[in-house]
Amino acid sequence: MATTLKQSQNFIGGEWVDATSGETFESTSPADGELMGTFPKSGADDVDRAVAAAKEAYEDWRLVPAPKRGEILYRFAQVLAERKDEVTDLMTHEMGKVAAEAGGDVQEAIDMSYYMGGEGRRLSGQTTPSELRDKFNMSVRMPIGVVGAITPWNFPIAIPSWKIAPALVAGNTVVFKPATDTPALGQRFVELLDEAGVPKGVVNIVHGGGGAVGHRLVRHPDVPVITLTGSRDTGVTVMRNGAENLKRIHLELGGKNAIIVLDDADLDLAVDGIVWSAFGTSGQRCTAASRVIVHEKVVGELSSRLVAVVEKLTLGPGWEDDTDVGPVINQSALDKIHSYTEIGVSEGAKLLTGGEIAAEGDLGKGFYYRPTIFGDVESAMRVAQEEIFGPTTVLIPVKDADEAIRVSNGVRFGLSSSIFTQDVNRAFRAMRDLEAGITYINAGTIGAEVHLPFGGTKDTGNGHREAGQAALDVYTEWKSVYVDYSGTLQRAQIDNA
Ligand code: UN1
Repeated sequence: MATTLKQSQNFIGGEWVDATSGETFESTSPADGELMGTFPKSGADDVDRAVAAAKEAYEDWRLVPAPKRGEILYRFAQVLAERKDEVTDLMTHEMGKVAAEAGGDVQEAIDMSYYMGGEGRRLSGQTTPSELRDKFNMSVRMPIGVVGAITPWNFPIAIPSWKIAPALVAGNTVVFKPATDTPALGQRFVELLDEAGVPKGVVNIVHGGGGAVGHRLVRHPDVPVITLTGSRDTGVTVMRNGAENLKRIHLELGGKNAIIVLDDADLDLAVDGIVWSAFGTSGQRCTAASRVIVHEKVVGELSSRLVAVVEKLTLGPGWEDDTDVGPVINQSALDKIHSYTEIGVSEGAKLLTGGEIAAEGDLGKGFYYRPTIFGDVESAMRVAQEEIFGPTTVLIPVKDADEAIRVSNGVRFGLSSSIFTQDVNRAFRAMRDLEAGITYINAGTIGAEVHLPFGGTKDTGNGHREAGQAALDVYTEWKSVYVDYSGTLQRAQIDNA
């Protein structure tokens, strides 16, 4: 481990401070139980203090020229790039994903910070003609104020950057609550922002649980924007609690993403795409492929090839070179994943491989689950409808491309989707008809890049998007400006009618 164990604190108004209560909680590695550090167990008082600091800092930060705000994000990207190996290593320990993917998580934050840094010189609005003479019209993006950022453990560096980088470049200040499973990574993120020169109070971190810290943040009258990546249930609670103050609520929630494999697909490529999308990050991505919808003509061939590859995957700690699949995040995730294996079996799905906790040797020190595939699955089964968030996927046979699209759309979520086919007509129909925020052609369901919108339809969210230009819509308010230089009273819709 590159880092030394420490007792971390909250960062409020540029000062490192304990929780008012003096209480702490521990973070441990899902890979082997190693203690990662202790963190303040904060409450409403701590949130209030952080919001007050962020509110005060906003008064100056909103006036810092946007290109200057962008330069700080460039510096952050550079600092993070210099520390990429250290943060990657920390992630393999605290979150558990394998080193290549942990490096990708950090890289995504570097990319996002550069991308949003560039927005400092754009943040474009519109200029339009006026319907009246001697009048000038334009729209400008305005910052909103204090943003409450509540982030998950599965992308502990990338997702904070998706929220905090656009919030900052647009001129907002931030109170950040990282997941309690990955507080050391949240802490490192803020330490590096501080090192990059973010002024005091502009970014504050308050550690602690959703019930105490998250709840107060969502209800705080001085926090006009909440951005949450989490479960559907949490999203509904956040929306309800934020409604009283008419907050802008950005939600990025669950997925039940499907890969469609048609009878003309390149099966070798499809197997690679499925294994990567279903078992990468141990299936703990919002974009994971937890369903594979296969043309009945190729389902036998595909499932035997898939099982053969999956049975060769090596489970282990993410920092070891030969590990393909790391642990899942904690005991309750392990229990939930296993309970879905039992549900699948009881529903009559055929367990093709996996379906058990792996605890031999040192694996017993962590939370490991064998990559699991169910065959003969029907779309209505719970294993084909509910988000499991683990290394489990299901094979659903279908008769043709139309049925494949219907089945893909037949879930409450709509984040990512994918189709393997060599037929351009089928590919374009899928692009049009798949009800999802993201569609991949001849690639699995994961691999989003930072400069395109990220998010989903239906119960995956509430219509907003992260990443790309679309993210700026979450963190800015439009103002339309009309400049009348005629020196006379010109009445729109009347004098020019
Ligand atoms: C998530 O699963 O919450 O496309 C984010 C991907 C990654 C981001 C995933 N770039 O899978």
